[in-house]
Amino acid sequence: MARGFLDGDRVKAVIAMLLLLPSSAWAEPTNALVVNNCLQCHSDEMLAQQRLTPKQWAAVVKKMIGWGAPVEPENVEPLVAWLAAHYNLEQPAYVPPRLTTADAEAAFGPLPDGPYKGGSQKKGKALYAQACASCHGADGHGSPTGMNLADRLLSWRAAEFVQPVRVGRGRMPAFSTLSRADFAALLAYVRTL
Ligand code: HEC
Ligand code: HEC
Repeated sequence: MARGFLDGDRVKAVIAMLLLLPSSAWAEPTNALVVNNCLQCHSDEMLAQQRLTPKQWAAVVKKMIGWGAPVEPENVEPLVAWLAAHYNLEQPAYVPPRLTTADAEAAFGPLPDGPYKGGSQKKGKALYAQACASCHGADGHGSPTGMNLADRLLSWRAAEFVQPVRVGRGRMPAFSTLSRADFAALLAYVRTL
């Protein structure tokens, strides 16, 4: 796979992923309020590119709550304050991180399935409907409480897909009792979405 991975459409796919990924490999670690309320729909980079006044940030957060961002009322003010302190008019222009082909392949290229090989799609479908669909959508295309999982390069990096699900992340609970076979099944199914 190494040689062919970044040919043709794959390059476009990687660029599209860079723009859409909720959390990319080199993104700065960010505030928990942002992680829990914004990154299910946006990338860190998208937010870091904004240069807004506190008033504008307040308006954006209000608008995003309208779009489904699950911000608790008491968190609105601290979230607006954090965004306004970091991404404001005094900041220098945003410089996008440079990415070499090797970086892209290391960050997004498929990895061997290892212990998650050969899962049952049928079992995965049932597990997904029961444990994941409420947030990630019946068709895997996401909802206000969980991002898109369909057609993601992440599902070809089994260990990285499994890790956040096993231990939980942000508003996603930990699914620590799922077995390797369960995760293999979930992966097999998610790849069909
Ligand atoms: C449920 C998905 C969702 C969540 C969660 C979400 N957004 Fe958005 N965001 C959108 C959509 C959809 C748009 C495009 C809106 C439009 O075109 O009017 C958008 C647009 C934006 C924009 C572009 C400017 C604008 O007003 O259109 C900014 C900045 C932004 N969001 C910031 C945030 C911040 C900060 C958070 C966390 C509080 C957040 N978003 C949470 C879906 C979301
Ligand atoms: C209560 C809602 C909820 C449920 C249920 C849920 N998730 Fe999530 N999931 C999320 C949220 C929110 C995130 C983003 C976490 C963050 O980065 O803050 C996430 C992140 C993920 C990620 C990481 C995606 C990435 O781009 O890094 C994967 C993979 C994932 N979920 C798979 C699953 C699977 C598989 C299940 C079922 C076993 C599941 N989730 C159940 C809400 C949920």
